[in-house]
Amino acid sequence: MSLPMVQTPSAKSGSATIAPLMLENIPALQDEVRALAAERGAVILAHNYQLPEIQDVADYVGDSLGLSQQAAATDAETIVFCGVHFMAETASVLSPEKTILIPDADAGCSLADSITAEQLRGWKAKHPGAIVVMYVNTTAEVKAETDYCVTSSNAVAVVEHILREHGPDTEILFGPDMFLGAYVEKRIGRALHVWDGECHVHAGIRPGDISAVRDAHPGADFLIHPECGCSTSVMEYVAAGDVDAGGVHMLSTGGMLTYAREHGEQDGPVIVATETGMLHPLREAAPDVDFIAANERASCRYMKMITLPRLRDSLRDGRTEVRVPVAIAERARVPIERMVAIS
Ligand code: 13P
Ligand code: SF4
Repeated sequence: MSLPMVQTPSAKSGSATIAPLMLENIPALQDEVRALAAERGAVILAHNYQLPEIQDVADYVGDSLGLSQQAAATDAETIVFCGVHFMAETASVLSPEKTILIPDADAGCSLADSITAEQLRGWKAKHPGAIVVMYVNTTAEVKAETDYCVTSSNAVAVVEHILREHGPDTEILFGPDMFLGAYVEKRIGRALHVWDGECHVHAGIRPGDISAVRDAHPGADFLIHPECGCSTSVMEYVAAGDVDAGGVHMLSTGGMLTYAREHGEQDGPVIVATETGMLHPLREAAPDVDFIAANERASCRYMKMITLPRLRDSLRDGRTEVRVPVAIAERARVPIERMVAIS
């Protein structure tokens, strides 16, 4: 049996098509990966959206915040980042003395691409004195222009902290994800200036998907990532009383895992609105719960560019190294460390 082939968006890495991986080859490749990691003194960090066979071979699997914390805390000389490029950059910013490798340097992020440092400088110029809050899904250059970073697990807490520290009327520029921005606005009960960026995968989980799964599974709990295009409408359903607020959980991927660990005995299905890679760790955490994707096509092709053969090659050949230039890294570290201190 073979796994699906993934088309990469560019051939820059010299591998435009990922060859199918035979399931029977997975254990041997995983052994090779573990042996090479031990030889190199490397720790393997993987995001919750990675392919199951990558998650299963990693030292740590988690959400963006957890991965940043692991990257900052590890004693390993080398970090191999199974995730997308901005995550490897964040590890380089937090651990500049370490070697950071990414198995495919073309693993980008449509959300991080939705704002450049130049665009942010232009936005700041129109709002002098405003505090800049950016999702970690941004390049290091954008972070260098930022006051506070956030992830989906701490965005509300970080903005509340800013309002306490700088005053309730503080002007805030929030970006780049508009759905996360709308969610934070709703939670804190006031407006922010919100950039109109989006993640193509989460934005594609539309209100119509939620209506369809609601009809098919009435009464099911919803786990919704706040980047989703359906998140605003679900908040509206809750406000209108169409959906029971008790069954709706707006969560980061790490928060979804905590839910799974705490609801192992859950009766009936649970609907999951996020990238479908998340179903693997959820099912591992709560094997008896029937987790259902809100949209089965919500797969991030960038996350899926990290394959076992590429991870093996990366460890064997020491590539591709991600190193953020010192001048950028020093400035980008400030908003990340502020976020980690608040979380
Ligand atoms: P979290 O893991 O922080 O929830 O982020 C989701 C995401 O889209 C990462 O690319
Ligand atoms: Fe970026 Fe969206 Fe993919 Fe996450 S799922 S890496 S936000 S494109």
